[in-house]
Amino acid sequence: MNIQLRLEQPQDYRIVEELTREAFWGMNHPDCNEHLLAHKLRSVSAFVPELDYVAVISDIIVGNVMFSKGRIVDAQGREYIVLNFGPLSVLPEYQNRGVGKALMTYTISEAKRLGYRAILFFGHPDYYTRFGFKRAKEFSITTSGGVNFDAFMAMPLYDGALDGIAGRYYEDPVFEIGEDEKVEFDKGFPYKEKCVLVSAEVLFTKLISTACAALKKHEIAFLCDLRRYSEQEVSSWNGIDKISLEIIKATMMENGFVWGEQTHS
Ligand SMILES: CC(C)(COP(=O)(O)OP(=O)(O)OC[C@H]1O[C@@H](n2cnc3c(N)ncnc32)[C@H](O)[C@@H]1OP(=O)(O)O)[C@@H](O)C(=O)NCCC(=O)NCCS
Repeated sequence: MNIQLRLEQPQDYRIVEELTREAFWGMNHPDCNEHLLAHKLRSVSAFVPELDYVAVISDIIVGNVMFSKGRIVDAQGREYIVLNFGPLSVLPEYQNRGVGKALMTYTISEAKRLGYRAILFFGHPDYYTRFGFKRAKEFSITTSGGVNFDAFMAMPLYDGALDGIAGRYYEDPVFEIGEDEKVEFDKGFPYKEKCVLVSAEVLFTKLISTACAALKKHEIAFLCDLRRYSEQEVSSWNGIDKISLEIIKATMMENGFVWGEQTHS
């Protein structure tokens, strides 16, 4: 399949917001706010237009990725500008055909060419390792709240780019999206039924009690809540054995989620 990548143009804005809405709808919430994020990002100073790419197949825009600037602040108050990315969106009917990979691979190489130090972001921990991302804690970097989890990832863009830098990471405030502004913005799009999130109960009926307790301890109320964690991270939770992990993976897949390390026969 011929995937072409090019910079987003003003005439693409609405199409990109529509595809972002389609890609994220019901993924983490019954609706989504990522289309508003895409809309707002373009007008903040942290936005990096040189890395705002669309993917095109047969003249149809099927994917988009956006980058913005974030900061690592160390204990002495020194600031280091890094990149953050997202949203990364691929139209559902074009997913799993290499579009996400093409967008990521190309924009990472462009970010290197443009001389950026590193990329930090929050995303599916089992997907992005394939592009070279690692857990941010390997670099002594925490979230702005001072914590770490697998979904918080980092990648230096040149040798030693994050060496000797320890601190907290702050993304641009544009990422904080209010409920009211989301609802208002979404009124400008065709009506779309909210999704019913699949309750974690579907897992609790299949798992042993220690595994259920582990999921509850980590506040897994809906299956989508598991997307914040990597397979490795979940397997380290007290009470999760190998069989539980397989059940979790299979249940996620049955419910339309790609989750965990993907193996091929
Ligand atoms: C995540 C997303 C961008 C991936 O794009 P894509 O074009 O479908 O992905 P690609 O075709 O490049 O890669 C597909 C591979 O990634 C794997 N993959 C996709 N999502 C994954 C996830 N959440 N966790 C682990 N692996 C994942 C697929 O299993 C497939 O594996 P394979 O190559 O070993 O067969 C796309 O599915 C999407 O837009 N999802 C909804 C929005 C979203 O979640 N965006 C990312 C926010 S962090």
